Amino acid sequence: MGKFVLKDTFFQKAKQEGYRARSAYKLKEIQNRFHILKKGDKVLDLGCSPGSFLQVIADIVGQEGKIIGIDILPLTPLPYKNVITVMCDIRETDIKELMHIRSLQRFDVVTCDISPNLSGISEVDNKNIGELYQAVQKVVSEGLREGGHFVIKSFFSDTFKGISIELKKIFMRVSVFKPMASRSASSEIYLICMNKKKPADSQRR
Ligand SMILES: C[S@@+](CC[C@H](N)C(=O)[O-])C[C@H]1O[C@@H](n2cnc3c(N)ncnc32)[C@H](O)[C@@H]1O
Repeated sequence: MGKFVLKDTFFQKAKQEGYRARSAYKLKEIQNRFHILKKGDKVLDLGCSPGSFLQVIADIVGQEGKIIGIDILPLTPLPYKNVITVMCDIRETDIKELMHIRSLQRFDVVTCDISPNLSGISEVDNKNIGELYQAVQKVVSEGLREGGHFVIKSFFSDTFKGISIELKKIFMRVSVFKPMASRSASSEIYLICMNKKKPADSQRR
């Protein structure tokens, strides 16, 4: 019963406050706790549709910030001049080219709320998730600046431990966080990865 009340609370709140999804409150909680975003930041949001993370990010980074959202699904345009959305599969995206087209050197923050489409066939799903994670890791390696922050929803529970270990080599600090707005029945958790190391430092550890 409690779970449904919680679901309704965040769902209704999102409707009342004009957010496109309850996920907005997950990112707000992450921000309140870890302060990953700041005014003027350049941010990349992976798996951005329907757009509630983008709404929260745009409000924080303001007019001086720049935001790019990527999703395989289309997204109804948001009323922010500094938000660009690109419809594509992250596995087929050349992030360097995307940054070049948008005159960006590096992102300050990358968020990834991707939920893979699962078939229920574990062999197929594991392959899909593996490819997805490789693609996300490449984006972080090529697109996120040193000292930048990365937030990823852990949709790969089986491989969670390994990924968490890998991320600890790349970032100074990695925290596991379960927002209140995340359904308690769901195994969803977020990894909050702070302060990307210099490449030489990340190879040492
Ligand atoms: C939970 S939703 C994201 C919600 C979003 N953060 C928000 O606040 O509105 C997950 C998204 O991941 C996207 N997705 C799944 N696989 C993807 C892929 N390979 N490349 C890009 N986006 C993908 C889905 O289309 C879906 O829109």
